[in-house]
Amino acid sequence: MSQFDVAVIGAGPGGYIAAIRAAQLGFKTVCIDAGVNKTGDAPALGGTCLNVGCIPSKALLQSSEHFHAAQHDFAEHGITVGDVKFDAAKMIERKDGIVTKLTGGIKFLFQKNKVESLFGKGSLKGRNGDVWQVEVDNKGEKSVVEAKHVIIATGSVPRPLPLIDIDNVNVLDNEGALNLTEVPKKLGVIGSGVIGLEMGSVWKRVGSEVTILEAMPNFLAAADQQIAKEAFKVFTKEQDLAIELGVKINEIKNDKNGVTVSYEVGGAAKTETFDKLIVSIGRIPNTEGLNAEGVGLEKDERGFIKVDGECRTNLPNVWAIGDVVRGPMLAHKASDEGVAVAERIAGQKPHLDFNTIPFVIYTDPEIAWVGKTEEQLKAEGVEYKKGTSGFAANGRALGLGKAKGTVKVLACAKTDRVLGVHMIGPMVSELVAEGVMSMEFSASSEDIARIVHAHPTLSEVLHEAALAADKRALHG
Ligand code: FAD
Ligand code: NAI
Repeated sequence: MSQFDVAVIGAGPGGYIAAIRAAQLGFKTVCIDAGVNKTGDAPALGGTCLNVGCIPSKALLQSSEHFHAAQHDFAEHGITVGDVKFDAAKMIERKDGIVTKLTGGIKFLFQKNKVESLFGKGSLKGRNGDVWQVEVDNKGEKSVVEAKHVIIATGSVPRPLPLIDIDNVNVLDNEGALNLTEVPKKLGVIGSGVIGLEMGSVWKRVGSEVTILEAMPNFLAAADQQIAKEAFKVFTKEQDLAIELGVKINEIKNDKNGVTVSYEVGGAAKTETFDKLIVSIGRIPNTEGLNAEGVGLEKDERGFIKVDGECRTNLPNVWAIGDVVRGPMLAHKASDEGVAVAERIAGQKPHLDFNTIPFVIYTDPEIAWVGKTEEQLKAEGVEYKKGTSGFAANGRALGLGKAKGTVKVLACAKTDRVLGVHMIGPMVSELVAEGVMSMEFSASSEDIARIVHAHPTLSEVLHEAALAADKRALHG
């Protein structure tokens, strides 16, 4: 029986990073993963993120943005293009190429760092003295490895909607939404969260008529509401995404006529028939097949593996990270937890600050934030000041043809310490890093204001917002 210091179950961004870090720290490490490629005929490392999440969705967002720009934006640059055509199958092929490259890259990283990679479903079999036995089920062929520490990183799966089964032909989850090889004429989306907005944007840009049905009365309830309202206006008024809020879905029928959704909104009953329907109503932790009950691994009331602030489960030397535990379901959160756990096993004292985890939505304009929203600060009774600045007069944004959006800096009224940074605008997925860094280093808004920002850059808008927090904006 193979023996290891650390066995990681799951090779998504949580698990593969944990395995690499553990190996770097000198531990004999194995990573067990059951993920397969799109055709289901070969193992594929990288989990949801690389195969059916972050990476493929961003590839499609870029392709669709190019198509949209060629049709709508090139002319003002003096560029005339002929009849612009779109080939959905080609876009998917490009996306698949990126996925294959990156998933193969993890295989290479495992080899380089001497992480042993095993294909199959891992489950906790039990404890033999002070080592854990993990069973690996490779399509019925079972083997057992032993490890002193186990890190569970089994991720999440789409939350099912009891009203309808996902067939990934007409009713799609994230996997199906990322693999349409023809543009649906009418696309329905249930849930205006991150997947709904990103996937809705992709297919809208390439010609679908998109309707998003959202249960909550507020748009992007977790985001700062000033930014959310600006986003809602851009998406609905300028981009023609139909977003209905406060919707109650009553019935969904998937038949030869299409997918028919009956719902209520604002007291009125409505029915819409779509060619395809994406169901993106959140994700749930994936603990299936782990034998959690058998070994007494505790879960919380929502099915997440229970962990303390340092990712320790109730079982000795069993850790859990990423989407399968509490906290935001984000790849970078999973990876950072993975690093921290490997370092804790090595006796180090890493720290992960949940308050400085950035959030990004890759729409156009992008939305990004870190720290508290104004609504949270008000609810917590924190006295704060704010500074806002827009991209409308930013030279770089104008040059890019993307002079739209706002940056808002929230700082403590007494100490000036930055408490939150909220953005909508071009490439704010990159700009938010400065907000994260500022908060990690306990910067004040004056610190940001006194840092030299290159000209002309988009970052000048953040600089200006920090100046505005001190009522000394130069361009406001
Ligand atoms: P996962 O990535 O889900 O990986 C879990 C792995 O464990 C999988 O390979 C699975 O096969 C394997 N596994 C499960 N059970 C077992 C078992 N018993 N034995 C062996 N292997 C097992 N996040 C971002 O930060 N940015 C984004 O832009 C972004 N975009 C997204 C877009 C979409 C469409 C989706 C669906 C998600 C997106 N996310 C994004 C979220 C991100 O993908 C997840 O937060 C992240 O993948 C979680 O990582 P993880 O390692 O915890 O789990
Ligand atoms: P989500 O939690 O972002 O949004 C789900 C939405 O569906 C919510 O607005 C919710 O109110 C709504 N909803 C729930 N039940 C509903 C119902 N019955 N009818 C109508 N609406 C309903 O979840 P989503 O979009 O599925 O994404 C899952 C997770 O994946 C995200 O929470 C995020 O963590 C991750 N992700 C991250 C991305 C990024 O970082 N850019 C991109 C895509 C996904």
